[in-house]
Amino acid sequence: MGEASDLSAIAAVAQECTKCGLAEARNSVVFGVGNPRAALMFVGEGPGADEDAQGLPFVGRSGKLLDRLLKEEMGLERESVYITNVVKCRPPENRDPKPEEIAECAPYLQQQLAHIRPRVIVTLGNPATKTMLQTTTGITKLRGSSHTFNYPGGSATLVPTFHPSAVLRNQMNLPLIRADFVAAKQILLSQ
Ligand code: URA
Repeated sequence: MGEASDLSAIAAVAQECTKCGLAEARNSVVFGVGNPRAALMFVGEGPGADEDAQGLPFVGRSGKLLDRLLKEEMGLERESVYITNVVKCRPPENRDPKPEEIAECAPYLQQQLAHIRPRVIVTLGNPATKTMLQTTTGITKLRGSSHTFNYPGGSATLVPTFHPSAVLRNQMNLPLIRADFVAAKQILLSQ
């Protein structure tokens, strides 16, 4: 099996998942999208209404900003990276995913990491960053740093940054997220 078909097999299992309560109200399981061999991976918190409707991550307003930053700061299109979330189903009313939902969904992310084997992971916002770094420290303190992140069969440099929705709410965060994207690109190029 090739990289893509391995990932497709995991996605097919996720499509049937009923391990947590988020399965009840979902329209789609939003597994992830992009290059199955991507060196760069983005991890957000969970699908919103647009993503739940379309079955794809980051396709609403936050996604448009993500696409723009990818292009402007990294010279990349979304097809060349891999984009996913810590939970694959939409939390109702866009609340943060609960610890037990994140825990039930974690094996999917672990398997995605093990197959894609990214060299750089950008976490978008608090839930993704706190989950992956196993920390309670908030994103405002953590951004601007980078961390070694081990996953089954490999390791990456993890770059925490704001969630694009936090940038849409507060434009003061725009230069900071831009700087974090540039830093992630430089780490990628330096390896
Ligand atoms: N916010 C997220 O964290 N993920 C998405 O896929 C969309 C919005």
